[in-house]
Amino acid sequence: MEVDTPKISSGLEGIYITNSNICKVDGINGRLWYRGYSIEALAENSNFEEVSYLLIYGALPDAEQMEAFSKKLKQYRELSQTTIDILSRMVGRADPMDILRTAISALPADDKDAYENSDDQNARKSIMLISKVASITATIGRMLAGKTYVKPNGDLDHASNFLYMLNGSKPNERDSKVIDLMLVLHAEHATNASTFSAMVTGSTLADIYAAVTSGIATLKGPLHGGADENALKMMREIGTPANTEKYIDDALAGKKRIMGFGHRVYKTYDPRAKIIKKYLIESEDYSDDLKNLAAIALRAETLMIGRLGKTHGIWPNVDFFSGPVYLSIGIPLELFTPLFAVARTPGWCAHVLEYWKNNRLFRPLDFYTGALDIEYKKISER
Ligand code: ACO
Repeated sequence: MEVDTPKISSGLEGIYITNSNICKVDGINGRLWYRGYSIEALAENSNFEEVSYLLIYGALPDAEQMEAFSKKLKQYRELSQTTIDILSRMVGRADPMDILRTAISALPADDKDAYENSDDQNARKSIMLISKVASITATIGRMLAGKTYVKPNGDLDHASNFLYMLNGSKPNERDSKVIDLMLVLHAEHATNASTFSAMVTGSTLADIYAAVTSGIATLKGPLHGGADENALKMMREIGTPANTEKYIDDALAGKKRIMGFGHRVYKTYDPRAKIIKKYLIESEDYSDDLKNLAAIALRAETLMIGRLGKTHGIWPNVDFFSGPVYLSIGIPLELFTPLFAVARTPGWCAHVLEYWKNNRLFRPLDFYTGALDIEYKKISER
């Protein structure tokens, strides 16, 4: 029976949709754990391949399991001619996130077991997706720079191979470390918008390719994965550290949102932003441009915390310091959001695989507030 005035939870805020053993976000104390391991411990000691295994299988791998997992990731790195054709037809004409989404949704064409949905096949497809999203994103970046597809390098780990396929040369140790760290920090974050969207698609028993395609589509928005790109654009608009205060105050007075600040769950400093900030300020060999961007970012951080931190719970989120750090390792702005998808793919897959163990179709309600039984008039009488 429908109640007269139900409680509407706009944006599903505060609603629990499932039990999960994947990720805990403590938004009050600014803490984050993947499968029980703190993000600080994983950032310090682990790498993206190991974190992907942890998310998909629920426990850290031993040496043998790690080797087998890395081998499978490598096996799927190479792109098919179908994928390369899609990318070459779209690059330069569509947003990189639209290109990535299209290429991922076309992958079943190359997978003879695409519609086999056993647990083993779904785990295999998840590993394939982690690998392909990275190779596709790197190749989009290459094509945006007017260059052609580079085959993967089997000697390199996942993160280093991403930079290799993007730049056509082996990365140095610092760049490999930074990109790997960024992937670890973005790999998982509970039922955020894109993960929820992947779960909704999964809950219809559509396959994992469809679920990850939904995740990518949802990640694109500036309120979610697109925020780092927009935060960097804002830093460029600000121009100089001295202009930061005026820019922030004018923006807030005009009710504009400052990208890279605020979070639905964290009402304090995002622990991932703290780790990224350390990398930003610890780098000594920045260009003048990067030093300027870093100075603007630090000034904006202080100002925003002063204006809205303690009073409104609006603090830097994971996206605020990411842009300058990506630039420091040569990642162009257009790839920031696709790179977020590279990182988040294991998180999306882990949630869909977990949800399938106790699947129930998502079907929330809306409360209809329109008219009923309106007299129908033929088009000629309207
Ligand atoms: N700058 C200025 N004001 C803000 C900001 C911000 N970044 N974020 C929230 N506010 C203000 C809102 O204007 C609103 O003010 P009001 O009550 O006077 O109208 C109040 O704070 C509450 O905002 P909501 O949008 O209701 O809060 P919500 O929990 O939905 O916000 C969100 C979360 C969407 C992330 C928001 O903080 C935002 O738009 N941030 C900027 C975009 C961003 O950085 N997104 C990345 C998030 S992390 C991620 O997805 C990986």
